[in-house]
Amino acid sequence: MKIPWSTVHFMHEELHDELIGSFKRVFNGDWFIQGSSVKEFEDAYAKYCETDYCIGCGNGLDAITIILKAMGIGTGDEVIIPSFTFIATALAVEYAGAKPVFVEIDPDTALLEPSRIEEAITERTKAILPVHLYGQPASMDGICEIARRYGLKVIEDAAQAHGAVYKGKRIGSLGDAAAFSFYPGKNLGALGDAGGITTNDARLAGKIRAIGNYGSKIKYIHKYMGVNSRLDEVQAAFLSAKLPHLEKWNKDRKRIAGCYLNEIKHPEIKLPVVKTGDHVWHIFAVRCNKRDNLKKYLKDKGIETNIHYPVPMHFQKAFSHYELPRGTYPIAEELADTELSLPIYWGMTDEEINYIINALNKFRVVQT
Ligand SMILES: Cc1ncc(COP(=O)(O)O)c(C=O)c1O
Repeated sequence: MKIPWSTVHFMHEELHDELIGSFKRVFNGDWFIQGSSVKEFEDAYAKYCETDYCIGCGNGLDAITIILKAMGIGTGDEVIIPSFTFIATALAVEYAGAKPVFVEIDPDTALLEPSRIEEAITERTKAILPVHLYGQPASMDGICEIARRYGLKVIEDAAQAHGAVYKGKRIGSLGDAAAFSFYPGKNLGALGDAGGITTNDARLAGKIRAIGNYGSKIKYIHKYMGVNSRLDEVQAAFLSAKLPHLEKWNKDRKRIAGCYLNEIKHPEIKLPVVKTGDHVWHIFAVRCNKRDNLKKYLKDKGIETNIHYPVPMHFQKAFSHYELPRGTYPIAEELADTELSLPIYWGMTDEEINYIINALNKFRVVQT
């Protein structure tokens, strides 16, 4: 049996006619940037996230960078981020001109650990940027309480958590602003690069929209040092076609994750811990000290896996100027050495799920 780690094939097969219809509508409309399809998606996604505003942009990296710029965060400022995330979180802080300050993660959830935040706060700290990593909401109560006490902004990196819920509230509505990626493989993905920002702050929303459009609210009048980062009409139309199905797709991810959680029983495979909120399982991340052996063993059985992420950010050459040696963030380092992402996608059959579970449970037999 051959099982991919992820595929959007079954989603797109199911929505084939709608997606082609969306493309045709934009094609025939002869208007490709900042038109009615973008407005329609922004309104629908803001409603879904229970926020007043959604502003489309080019991708998730731009979404974080634009929020920071719109908040006036830049040179000389510091932003607290988790020690373990996709590099975009830290890169965005650098692009805004500020310094990312890494704070160690919770060993169970791999999420920013609120009890470690205060010791990282300095007079230069302007914001906390938690990541809802793998699809699980960060501990927002603790994070927002610290932010309130120190007068800091809270920016959610929600790139992996479309539709997740924290204490009854939708991800994207919990801080001052939230950044989403609609990269094709995300729980809600476009058919190319795309991103979005949600917020309840009208002034911030206006500035965000202007910064993503060359710093301009009025054509050829440029108030801010903006960038060109706009959601395309065609991607917005695809996203509008997909959004009504997100709940169903997330529900199915939860079903698959539930099977894994209930049925994978192996002394050397540590299953993900859910403790902060409603997890939407963008990634099903197990841990194993013999990760590379396990990966090869599964590959030989036709099961494709992935690693999120093999190198922690403070070891990346791009961040070598911070001179953070091995041992600085031991939990992040251990996660990078042990994490393995199992297949999870809409359209997985029970036969495939059971095949993966059986293969994992038999891992010890092959090892010896
Ligand atoms: C946690 C996180 N933040 C930000 C991004 C950046 O999103 P994009 O690839 O759309 O720029 C990603 C993308 O994978 C991500 O996983």
